[in-house]
Amino acid sequence: MAFKDGEEAKIPLLTPYKMGNFELSHRVVLAPLTRQRSFGNVPQPHAILYYSQRTTKGGFLISEATGVSNTAQGYPETPGIWTKEQVEAWKPIVDAVHAKGGIFFCQIWHVGRVSNTGFQPNGQAPISSTNKGLMNQVRANGIDVARFSPPRKLTTQEIPLVVDDFRLAARNAIEAGFDGVEIHGAHGYLIDQFMKDRVNDRTDEYGGSLENRCRFALEVVEAVVKEIGADKVGIRLSPFADYMQSGDSNPKALGLYMAESLNKYKILYCHMVEPRMKSVGEKVECPHSLVSMRKAFEGTFISAGGYDMEDGNNAVADNRTDLVAYGRLFLANPDLPKRFELNAPLNNYNRETFYTPDPVLGYTDYPFLETTD
Ligand SMILES: Cc1cc2nc3c(=O)[nH]c(=O)nc-3n(C[C@H](O)[C@H](O)[C@H](O)COP(=O)(O)O)c2cc1C
Repeated sequence: MAFKDGEEAKIPLLTPYKMGNFELSHRVVLAPLTRQRSFGNVPQPHAILYYSQRTTKGGFLISEATGVSNTAQGYPETPGIWTKEQVEAWKPIVDAVHAKGGIFFCQIWHVGRVSNTGFQPNGQAPISSTNKGLMNQVRANGIDVARFSPPRKLTTQEIPLVVDDFRLAARNAIEAGFDGVEIHGAHGYLIDQFMKDRVNDRTDEYGGSLENRCRFALEVVEAVVKEIGADKVGIRLSPFADYMQSGDSNPKALGLYMAESLNKYKILYCHMVEPRMKSVGEKVECPHSLVSMRKAFEGTFISAGGYDMEDGNNAVADNRTDLVAYGRLFLANPDLPKRFELNAPLNNYNRETFYTPDPVLGYTDYPFLETTD
Protein backbone atom coordinates (compact mmCIF):
# COMPACT_ATOMS: atom_id res chain seq x y z
CA MET A 1 0.00 0.00 0.00
CA ALA A 2 1.21 3.48 -0.83
CA PHE A 3 1.79 6.04 1.89
CA LYS A 4 1.69 9.77 1.13
CA ASP A 5 3.75 12.22 3.21
CA GLY A 6 3.45 10.22 6.38
CA GLU A 7 -0.29 10.03 5.91
CA GLU A 8 -1.62 6.51 5.89
CA ALA A 9 -3.47 5.64 2.73
CA LYS A 10 -6.68 3.82 3.52
CA ILE A 11 -6.46 0.06 3.25
CA PRO A 12 -10.00 -1.07 2.40
CA LEU A 13 -9.68 -4.37 4.31
CA LEU A 14 -8.63 -2.48 7.43
CA THR A 15 -11.55 -0.05 7.54
CA PRO A 16 -14.18 -0.53 10.25
CA TYR A 17 -17.53 -2.11 9.50
CA LYS A 18 -20.71 -2.38 11.51
CA MET A 19 -22.14 -5.89 11.19
CA GLY A 20 -25.52 -5.74 12.89
CA ASN A 21 -24.81 -5.09 16.56
CA PHE A 22 -21.11 -5.83 16.16
CA GLU A 23 -18.59 -3.07 15.64
CA LEU A 24 -15.82 -4.66 13.59
CA SER A 25 -12.53 -2.80 13.50
CA HIS A 26 -11.52 -4.39 10.17
CA ARG A 27 -12.80 -6.74 7.49
CA VAL A 28 -10.28 -9.60 7.64
CA VAL A 29 -12.28 -12.58 8.92
CA LEU A 30 -10.89 -15.90 10.16
CA ALA A 31 -12.55 -18.47 7.87
CA PRO A 32 -13.83 -21.70 9.43
CA LEU A 33 -10.94 -24.18 9.44
CA THR A 34 -11.25 -27.80 10.53
CA ARG A 35 -8.14 -28.71 12.51
CA GLN A 36 -8.85 -32.21 13.91
CA ARG A 37 -7.31 -31.61 17.30
CA SER A 38 -10.44 -31.97 19.42
CA PHE A 39 -9.81 -35.40 20.87
CA GLY A 40 -12.94 -37.47 21.39
CA ASN A 41 -14.95 -34.64 19.76
CA VAL A 42 -14.22 -32.43 22.79
CA PRO A 43 -12.48 -29.07 22.24
CA GLN A 44 -9.09 -29.06 23.96
CA PRO A 45 -7.24 -26.41 25.99
CA HIS A 46 -4.67 -25.99 23.18
CA ALA A 47 -7.42 -24.34 21.12
CA ILE A 48 -7.32 -21.42 23.57
CA LEU A 49 -3.92 -20.40 22.27
CA TYR A 50 -4.77 -21.16 18.64
CA TYR A 51 -7.86 -18.94 18.54
CA SER A 52 -6.47 -16.19 20.76
CA GLN A 53 -3.38 -15.95 18.51
CA ARG A 54 -5.75 -15.11 15.64
CA THR A 55 -7.85 -12.62 17.61
CA THR A 56 -7.65 -8.84 17.24
CA LYS A 57 -9.75 -6.26 19.00
CA GLY A 58 -12.89 -5.92 16.89
CA GLY A 59 -11.88 -8.82 14.63
CA PHE A 60 -14.40 -11.44 13.52
CA LEU A 61 -13.60 -15.15 13.86
CA ILE A 62 -15.55 -18.19 12.73
CA SER A 63 -14.78 -21.46 14.48
CA GLU A 64 -13.88 -24.73 12.83
CA ALA A 65 -16.89 -26.81 11.78
CA THR A 66 -18.53 -28.21 14.92
CA GLY A 67 -20.89 -31.20 14.96
CA VAL A 68 -24.52 -30.68 15.97
CA SER A 69 -25.23 -34.26 17.06
CA ASN A 70 -23.75 -37.72 17.39
CA THR A 71 -24.66 -38.47 13.78
CA ALA A 72 -22.98 -35.30 12.49
CA GLN A 73 -19.35 -36.43 12.49
CA GLY A 74 -17.27 -37.78 9.62
CA TYR A 75 -13.66 -36.89 10.44
CA PRO A 76 -11.43 -37.91 13.34
CA GLU A 77 -11.10 -35.53 16.31
CA THR A 78 -13.41 -32.76 15.15
CA PRO A 79 -15.28 -30.89 17.87
CA GLY A 80 -18.96 -31.12 18.72
CA ILE A 81 -21.43 -28.99 20.60
CA TRP A 82 -24.19 -31.43 21.51
CA THR A 83 -23.03 -32.55 24.96
CA LYS A 84 -22.61 -30.66 28.21
CA GLU A 85 -18.93 -31.63 28.27
CA GLN A 86 -18.36 -30.10 24.83
CA VAL A 87 -20.18 -26.90 25.78
CA GLU A 88 -18.07 -26.58 28.92
CA ALA A 89 -14.89 -27.23 26.95
CA TRP A 90 -15.70 -24.43 24.48
CA LYS A 91 -16.16 -21.86 27.26
CA PRO A 92 -12.50 -21.07 28.05
CA ILE A 93 -11.73 -20.88 24.32
CA VAL A 94 -14.52 -18.39 23.70
CA ASP A 95 -13.53 -16.46 26.83
CA ALA A 96 -9.97 -16.10 25.54
CA VAL A 97 -11.21 -14.64 22.25
CA HIS A 98 -13.49 -12.23 24.11
CA ALA A 99 -10.69 -11.23 26.47
CA LYS A 100 -8.82 -9.87 23.45
CA GLY A 101 -11.91 -8.11 22.07
CA GLY A 102 -12.76 -10.59 19.30
CA ILE A 103 -16.21 -11.53 18.02
CA PHE A 104 -16.59 -15.27 17.72
CA PHE A 105 -19.21 -17.36 15.90
CA CYS A 106 -19.47 -21.15 16.01
CA GLN A 107 -19.84 -22.92 12.68
CA ILE A 108 -22.48 -25.62 13.23
CA TRP A 109 -22.20 -28.67 10.99
CA HIS A 110 -23.68 -31.97 9.95
CA VAL A 111 -21.63 -34.00 7.46
CA GLY A 112 -24.54 -36.16 6.27
CA ARG A 113 -23.17 -38.84 3.94
CA VAL A 114 -19.55 -37.62 4.19
CA SER A 115 -19.06 -40.23 6.90
CA ASN A 116 -18.90 -43.94 7.53
CA THR A 117 -20.38 -46.37 10.01
CA GLY A 118 -17.28 -46.04 12.23
CA PHE A 119 -18.26 -42.45 13.09
CA GLN A 120 -21.91 -43.28 13.70
CA PRO A 121 -23.69 -44.35 16.88
CA ASN A 122 -24.13 -48.15 17.00
CA GLY A 123 -22.36 -48.43 13.66
CA GLN A 124 -25.46 -47.27 11.82
CA ALA A 125 -25.47 -45.84 8.28
CA PRO A 126 -24.80 -42.09 7.91
CA ILE A 127 -27.92 -40.06 7.14
CA SER A 128 -28.48 -37.98 4.02
CA SER A 129 -31.02 -36.64 1.55
CA THR A 130 -30.33 -39.70 -0.57
CA ASN A 131 -29.28 -43.35 -0.52
CA LYS A 132 -26.57 -42.60 -3.10
CA GLY A 133 -23.13 -43.15 -1.61
CA LEU A 134 -19.86 -41.33 -2.10
CA MET A 135 -16.92 -42.98 -3.79
CA ASN A 136 -13.92 -43.39 -1.50
CA GLN A 137 -11.39 -40.65 -2.12
CA VAL A 138 -7.93 -39.50 -1.19
CA ARG A 139 -8.06 -36.96 1.62
CA ALA A 140 -6.78 -33.41 1.27
CA ASN A 141 -3.40 -34.45 2.72
CA GLY A 142 -2.91 -36.59 -0.39
CA ILE A 143 -2.16 -39.71 1.68
CA ASP A 144 -5.13 -41.07 3.59
CA VAL A 145 -8.08 -42.53 1.82
CA ALA A 146 -11.44 -41.40 3.15
CA ARG A 147 -13.88 -44.30 3.24
CA PHE A 148 -17.59 -43.65 3.09
CA SER A 149 -20.47 -45.96 3.89
CA PRO A 150 -23.68 -45.96 1.86
CA PRO A 151 -26.02 -43.44 3.50
CA ARG A 152 -29.61 -43.88 4.52
CA LYS A 153 -32.13 -41.46 3.06
CA LEU A 154 -33.94 -39.64 5.87
CA THR A 155 -37.68 -40.18 5.90
CA THR A 156 -39.82 -37.05 5.62
CA GLN A 157 -40.90 -37.49 9.24
CA GLU A 158 -37.31 -37.61 10.51
CA ILE A 159 -36.24 -34.32 8.94
CA PRO A 160 -37.69 -32.07 11.68
CA LEU A 161 -35.58 -34.01 14.21
CA VAL A 162 -32.40 -33.06 12.37
CA VAL A 163 -33.57 -29.45 12.09
CA ASP A 164 -33.99 -29.56 15.84
CA ASP A 165 -30.41 -30.77 16.29
CA PHE A 166 -29.24 -27.56 14.61
CA ARG A 167 -31.51 -25.53 16.89
CA LEU A 168 -30.13 -27.19 20.00
CA ALA A 169 -26.56 -26.78 18.80
CA ALA A 170 -27.20 -23.06 18.31
CA ARG A 171 -28.61 -22.81 21.81
CA ASN A 172 -25.56 -24.64 23.14
CA ALA A 173 -23.23 -22.32 21.24
CA ILE A 174 -24.81 -19.33 22.94
CA GLU A 175 -24.56 -21.16 26.27
CA ALA A 176 -20.83 -21.67 25.59
CA GLY A 177 -20.50 -17.91 25.13
CA PHE A 178 -20.27 -17.64 21.34
CA ASP A 179 -21.64 -14.40 19.89
CA GLY A 180 -23.60 -16.31 17.28
CA VAL A 181 -23.53 -19.23 14.86
CA GLU A 182 -22.72 -19.83 11.23
CA ILE A 183 -24.85 -22.60 9.72
CA HIS A 184 -22.60 -24.75 7.52
CA GLY A 185 -24.55 -25.02 4.29
CA ALA A 186 -21.50 -25.47 2.06
CA HIS A 187 -19.03 -28.02 0.67
CA GLY A 188 -21.24 -31.03 0.06
CA TYR A 189 -22.26 -31.64 3.67
CA LEU A 190 -25.82 -32.42 4.81
CA ILE A 191 -27.51 -29.10 4.00
CA ASP A 192 -25.77 -28.97 0.62
CA GLN A 193 -26.84 -32.59 0.02
CA PHE A 194 -30.41 -31.33 0.12
CA MET A 195 -29.82 -28.21 -1.98
CA LYS A 196 -27.86 -29.65 -4.91
CA ASP A 197 -29.75 -31.46 -7.65
CA ARG A 198 -26.89 -33.86 -8.45
CA VAL A 199 -27.28 -35.31 -4.95
CA ASN A 200 -30.88 -34.83 -3.90
CA ASP A 201 -33.12 -37.43 -5.58
CA ARG A 202 -36.09 -37.11 -3.23
CA THR A 203 -39.70 -37.14 -4.35
CA ASP A 204 -41.20 -35.62 -1.20
CA GLU A 205 -41.48 -31.88 -0.40
CA TYR A 206 -37.70 -31.78 0.23
CA GLY A 207 -36.75 -32.79 -3.32
CA GLY A 208 -37.38 -31.91 -6.95
CA SER A 209 -37.93 -28.16 -7.42
CA LEU A 210 -35.39 -25.58 -6.29
CA GLU A 211 -37.84 -24.43 -3.65
CA ASN A 212 -38.20 -27.97 -2.32
CA ARG A 213 -34.46 -28.63 -2.29
CA CYS A 214 -33.83 -25.45 -0.29
CA ARG A 215 -36.61 -26.21 2.18
CA PHE A 216 -34.38 -28.06 4.63
CA ALA A 217 -31.76 -25.28 4.66
CA LEU A 218 -34.41 -22.64 5.25
CA GLU A 219 -36.10 -24.68 7.97
CA VAL A 220 -32.76 -24.90 9.75
CA VAL A 221 -32.32 -21.13 9.39
CA GLU A 222 -35.82 -20.48 10.71
CA ALA A 223 -35.39 -22.79 13.72
CA VAL A 224 -32.01 -21.31 14.62
CA VAL A 225 -33.29 -17.74 14.19
CA LYS A 226 -36.24 -18.48 16.47
CA GLU A 227 -33.93 -19.96 19.07
CA ILE A 228 -31.15 -17.35 19.26
CA GLY A 229 -32.31 -14.35 17.19
CA ALA A 230 -31.59 -13.36 13.59
CA ASP A 231 -28.94 -10.88 14.68
CA LYS A 232 -26.75 -13.82 15.75
CA VAL A 233 -27.14 -16.03 12.68
CA GLY A 234 -25.07 -16.39 9.54
CA ILE A 235 -24.94 -19.10 6.89
CA ARG A 236 -22.17 -20.37 4.64
CA LEU A 237 -23.02 -21.50 1.12
CA SER A 238 -20.98 -22.76 -1.83
CA PRO A 239 -23.46 -23.07 -4.70
CA PHE A 240 -20.69 -23.41 -7.30
CA ALA A 241 -18.53 -26.00 -5.54
CA ASP A 242 -18.55 -29.66 -6.54
CA TYR A 243 -16.73 -30.73 -3.41
CA MET A 244 -17.73 -34.15 -2.01
CA GLN A 245 -19.46 -35.07 -5.22
CA SER A 246 -22.05 -32.38 -4.72
CA GLY A 247 -22.81 -30.08 -7.64
CA ASP A 248 -25.81 -28.42 -9.12
CA SER A 249 -26.94 -28.00 -12.72
CA ASN A 250 -27.75 -24.30 -12.12
CA PRO A 251 -25.59 -22.97 -9.27
CA LYS A 252 -26.34 -19.33 -10.03
CA ALA A 253 -30.09 -19.86 -9.70
CA LEU A 254 -29.49 -21.80 -6.49
CA GLY A 255 -27.28 -19.08 -4.99
CA LEU A 256 -29.73 -16.35 -5.97
CA TYR A 257 -32.75 -18.21 -4.66
CA MET A 258 -31.02 -18.71 -1.33
CA ALA A 259 -29.82 -15.09 -1.11
CA GLU A 260 -33.35 -13.83 -1.76
CA SER A 261 -35.05 -16.34 0.55
CA LEU A 262 -32.67 -15.56 3.40
CA ASN A 263 -33.85 -11.93 3.39
CA LYS A 264 -37.16 -13.12 4.81
CA TYR A 265 -35.39 -14.24 8.00
CA LYS A 266 -33.27 -11.08 8.28
CA ILE A 267 -30.19 -13.04 9.26
CA LEU A 268 -26.99 -11.20 10.03
CA TYR A 269 -24.83 -12.45 7.19
CA CYS A 270 -24.48 -14.62 4.15
CA HIS A 271 -21.02 -16.09 3.65
CA MET A 272 -20.35 -17.41 0.16
CA VAL A 273 -17.45 -19.33 -1.27
CA GLU A 274 -16.15 -17.97 -4.58
CA PRO A 275 -17.01 -19.99 -7.69
CA ARG A 276 -13.28 -20.30 -8.42
CA MET A 277 -13.02 -22.74 -5.48
CA LYS A 278 -14.08 -25.95 -7.16
CA SER A 279 -12.82 -27.90 -4.18
CA VAL A 280 -11.96 -26.67 -0.69
CA GLY A 281 -8.34 -25.87 -1.35
CA GLU A 282 -8.00 -25.58 -5.10
CA LYS A 283 -8.45 -22.37 -7.09
CA VAL A 284 -9.36 -22.52 -10.79
CA GLU A 285 -10.09 -19.89 -13.42
CA CYS A 286 -13.80 -19.24 -13.48
CA PRO A 287 -16.09 -16.83 -15.35
CA HIS A 288 -18.75 -16.76 -12.61
CA SER A 289 -19.01 -14.33 -9.71
CA LEU A 290 -21.00 -13.80 -6.55
CA VAL A 291 -22.03 -10.26 -7.44
CA SER A 292 -25.69 -11.02 -8.21
CA MET A 293 -26.02 -12.82 -4.86
CA ARG A 294 -24.24 -10.02 -3.04
CA LYS A 295 -26.72 -7.56 -4.57
CA ALA A 296 -29.73 -9.72 -3.74
CA PHE A 297 -28.85 -10.30 -0.09
CA GLU A 298 -29.78 -7.45 2.24
CA GLY A 299 -27.52 -8.27 5.20
CA THR A 300 -23.74 -8.42 5.51
CA PHE A 301 -22.00 -10.32 2.74
CA ILE A 302 -18.80 -12.28 3.35
CA SER A 303 -16.75 -13.69 0.47
CA ALA A 304 -14.12 -16.40 0.79
CA GLY A 305 -11.88 -18.50 -1.35
CA GLY A 306 -8.49 -17.85 -2.85
CA TYR A 307 -8.14 -14.26 -1.64
CA ASP A 308 -4.83 -12.52 -1.14
CA MET A 309 -4.42 -8.98 0.20
CA GLU A 310 -4.76 -7.18 -3.12
CA ASP A 311 -7.73 -9.17 -4.23
CA GLY A 312 -9.46 -8.64 -0.88
CA ASN A 313 -8.81 -4.89 -0.93
CA ASN A 314 -10.23 -4.67 -4.44
CA ALA A 315 -13.34 -6.64 -3.53
CA VAL A 316 -14.07 -4.32 -0.60
CA ALA A 317 -13.18 -1.15 -2.53
CA ASP A 318 -15.47 -2.21 -5.42
CA ASN A 319 -18.26 -3.03 -2.95
CA ARG A 320 -18.36 -6.63 -4.17
CA THR A 321 -18.36 -7.72 -0.55
CA ASP A 322 -18.43 -6.33 2.98
CA LEU A 323 -15.95 -8.73 4.56
CA VAL A 324 -13.39 -11.22 3.29
CA ALA A 325 -12.73 -14.53 5.05
CA TYR A 326 -9.19 -15.88 4.83
CA GLY A 327 -8.53 -19.56 5.36
CA ARG A 328 -5.06 -20.83 4.62
CA LEU A 329 -3.36 -17.44 4.93
CA PHE A 330 -4.86 -16.87 8.39
CA LEU A 331 -4.01 -20.43 9.42
CA ALA A 332 -0.34 -19.76 8.65
CA ASN A 333 -0.27 -16.09 9.73
CA PRO A 334 -1.84 -15.60 13.15
CA ASP A 335 -1.26 -11.84 12.81
CA LEU A 336 -2.66 -11.57 9.28
CA PRO A 337 -4.39 -8.16 9.71
CA LYS A 338 -1.14 -6.72 11.06
CA ARG A 339 0.80 -8.11 8.11
CA PHE A 340 -1.73 -6.55 5.72
CA GLU A 341 -1.35 -3.23 7.53
CA LEU A 342 2.42 -3.30 7.13
CA ASN A 343 2.36 -5.03 3.75
CA ALA A 344 4.71 -7.53 5.37
CA PRO A 345 5.71 -10.88 3.87
CA LEU A 346 3.55 -13.87 4.76
CA ASN A 347 4.45 -17.24 6.22
CA ASN A 348 3.74 -20.12 3.86
CA TYR A 349 1.19 -22.65 5.00
CA ASN A 350 2.16 -26.27 5.37
CA ARG A 351 -0.56 -28.47 3.88
CA GLU A 352 0.93 -31.57 5.49
CA THR A 353 0.03 -30.38 8.99
CA PHE A 354 -3.47 -29.05 8.21
CA TYR A 355 -5.15 -32.15 9.58
CA THR A 356 -2.55 -33.74 11.86
CA PRO A 357 -3.48 -34.06 15.56
CA ASP A 358 -0.47 -32.45 17.24
CA PRO A 359 -1.49 -29.74 19.75
CA VAL A 360 1.32 -27.42 18.61
CA LEU A 361 2.91 -28.44 15.31
CA GLY A 362 1.32 -26.70 12.33
CA TYR A 363 -1.21 -25.23 14.74
CA THR A 364 0.15 -22.69 17.20
CA ASP A 365 3.78 -22.62 16.01
CA TYR A 366 3.42 -20.34 12.98
CA PRO A 367 5.59 -17.31 13.80
CA PHE A 368 4.34 -13.78 14.41
CA LEU A 369 5.98 -10.80 12.79
CA GLU A 370 8.73 -9.38 14.90
CA THR A 371 7.69 -5.78 15.41
CA THR A 372 8.68 -3.23 17.97
CA ASP A 373 5.17 -2.46 19.21
C1 LIG B 1 -7.41 -26.98 6.64
C2 LIG B 1 -8.73 -26.49 6.13
C3 LIG B 1 -9.87 -26.74 6.86
C4 LIG B 1 -11.10 -26.24 6.44
N1 LIG B 1 -12.21 -26.43 7.21
C5 LIG B 1 -13.39 -25.85 6.89
C6 LIG B 1 -14.49 -25.91 7.76
O1 LIG B 1 -14.44 -26.48 8.86
N2 LIG B 1 -15.64 -25.31 7.38
C7 LIG B 1 -15.76 -24.65 6.16
O2 LIG B 1 -16.81 -24.11 5.86
N3 LIG B 1 -14.69 -24.55 5.34
C8 LIG B 1 -13.52 -25.11 5.68
N4 LIG B 1 -12.43 -24.95 4.87
C9 LIG B 1 -12.51 -24.02 3.72
C10 LIG B 1 -12.01 -22.63 4.14
O3 LIG B 1 -12.88 -22.01 5.08
C11 LIG B 1 -11.87 -21.69 2.92
O4 LIG B 1 -13.12 -21.51 2.31
C12 LIG B 1 -10.89 -22.27 1.91
O5 LIG B 1 -9.66 -22.60 2.54
C13 LIG B 1 -10.59 -21.27 0.79
O6 LIG B 1 -10.14 -20.06 1.33
P1 LIG B 1 -8.56 -19.67 1.32
O7 LIG B 1 -8.16 -19.63 -0.12
O8 LIG B 1 -8.53 -18.31 1.98
O9 LIG B 1 -7.84 -20.73 2.07
C14 LIG B 1 -11.19 -25.49 5.24
C15 LIG B 1 -10.03 -25.28 4.48
C16 LIG B 1 -8.82 -25.76 4.91
C17 LIG B 1 -7.59 -25.47 4.08
